[in-house]
Amino acid sequence: MAIREIMKMGDDVLRKKSRKVTAFDHRLHQLLDDLRDTLEQADGVGLASPQVGILKRVIVIRIGDQFVDFVNPEIIRTEGEQRELEGCLSIPGKWGITKRPSKVTIRAQDRNGKFFEKTDEGLIARAFCHETDHLDGVLYIDHALRLLTPEELEREQSGN
Ligand code: NI
Repeated sequence: MAIREIMKMGDDVLRKKSRKVTAFDHRLHQLLDDLRDTLEQADGVGLASPQVGILKRVIVIRIGDQFVDFVNPEIIRTEGEQRELEGCLSIPGKWGITKRPSKVTIRAQDRNGKFFEKTDEGLIARAFCHETDHLDGVLYIDHALRLLTPEELEREQSGN
């Protein structure tokens, strides 16, 4: 297991489309373990494989105290709408307001290739959307309703 470097905006890899995973082998497990470690160290909610420079359709999301692997994830159902604050480990120091569905169902495979579905709301629903977007080279700033001003950013940070 290892902490990998998180690519920052401006790096081409963040704009590319990731490839579907077909081999559920040791290399995939290594990648998932590294994503987990890197996400934990960065204290984020989710991390997508292209963010560590590997163009595979793989994301890891922290749900409660668990890190959940999603291989070849697809959003299959959405409901409602939320407008909330969103950030990205690849775009440090910036926050924006995005419009996302309030409830999202994701279908994916686990690290052994077994299909499963997961439905969640609020922050995790946003993470499902945000991280799967990364697999198609999409960043939240592409469709944010607006980015926070430096003053709002300061207020937000002093509040934490
Ligand atoms: Ni991100």
